[in-house]
Amino acid sequence: MKVEGAVALVTGANRGIGRAFAEELLERGAAKVYAAVRDVGAVADERLVPVRLDVTDGARVQELAAELGDVELLVNNAGVGSAALPLSSSLDEARRQLEVNYLGLVATTQAFAPVLARNGGGAVVNVLSVASWVSLPFLATYNASKSAAWAWSNAARVELKQQGTEVVGVHVGFVDTDMVAALEIDKVAPEAVAAAALDGLEAGEPEVLVDEFSREVKAALHDDLAQLYPGIEAEFAATAGARARPSPPSLLVEHSEVISAARPGRWDRQPRGGKPEGARRWAPAMLGCFWCRRARRPGGWRAAASPRAAGWCARGS
Ligand SMILES: NC(=O)c1ccc[n+]([C@@H]2O[C@H](COP(=O)([O-])OP(=O)(O)OC[C@H]3O[C@@H](n4cnc5c(N)ncnc54)[C@H](OP(=O)(O)O)[C@@H]3O)[C@@H](O)[C@H]2O)c1
Repeated sequence: MKVEGAVALVTGANRGIGRAFAEELLERGAAKVYAAVRDVGAVADERLVPVRLDVTDGARVQELAAELGDVELLVNNAGVGSAALPLSSSLDEARRQLEVNYLGLVATTQAFAPVLARNGGGAVVNVLSVASWVSLPFLATYNASKSAAWAWSNAARVELKQQGTEVVGVHVGFVDTDMVAALEIDKVAPEAVAAAALDGLEAGEPEVLVDEFSREVKAALHDDLAQLYPGIEAEFAATAGARARPSPPSLLVEHSEVISAARPGRWDRQPRGGKPEGARRWAPAMLGCFWCRRARRPGGWRAAASPRAAGWCARGS
């Protein structure tokens, strides 16, 4: 699908990846871009058309689809994230993430599918994540919501093809937005996500892997339990062990200080740059060793399962 001349709607377009999508669509000559947001006052760019939308409000989703009969491209971007361990995550928070990240995407796609069909087919771009494919223990409920959205997207692609609507799934690791402002870790620029996604859309690709992290994880899926999870498990054990150990070695002291200072909690709505104490605590456990970084690679994950894994992290080699 060509973006030039198209009418698009982007959910959560007031900040982060959604705002980058809206701007990139305009750059590429979109005829109109609806910024579907919870607070229309949060849309400062006068080139955008702000419309009120909370994706968890089913009635409003239906109403908006009835109001906006000219949409040809739907970008399902709105999302929420938080850190949560599998056994202690709040069910309310798990439901919130499913409501926004999964069911919100389903609701908007179902509501706008007839609009897209009437306008010649068009496309749906779903902003998913590397977390659709790999379950990092500190993101237990977020992973599940993104995995559900991915699974549903693949089914929807098959059905929507019947009406000539393309579905593009976009997968990426960490992106420099408010959602993960607390993490000191390599992040992709939101503009790069939007550009890669729209390049993929215009090239007719069903899936876009924005960064090396998502490409590596996807490449390891054929053997994920052997290639991905031993490394994740080793890192999890190292960080959990560091918490209990009374006299950890030098760099683990640094680890354990931030570990003990950190608590699982919401990441979103934290001010950019306002990194809470303990922010670095999440990095090693999510990506493998923050210092050695070898564990980010599929081979590295496997290697990280070796007895040396904890040593790597302890030495920061
Ligand atoms: N940042 C990352 O590392 C990363 C990586 C992979 C995928 N993603 C995905 O990328 C998408 C955008 O995230 P981001 O990083 O740009 O996060 P962000 O900066 O926190 O922005 C999230 C956006 O979603 C909107 N939103 C949240 N709940 C909503 C609801 N119920 N209805 C409508 N809008 C809602 C927010 O609106 P308000 O301003 O009103 O809260 C905001 O515009 C999400 O789907 C996220 O899961 C992010």
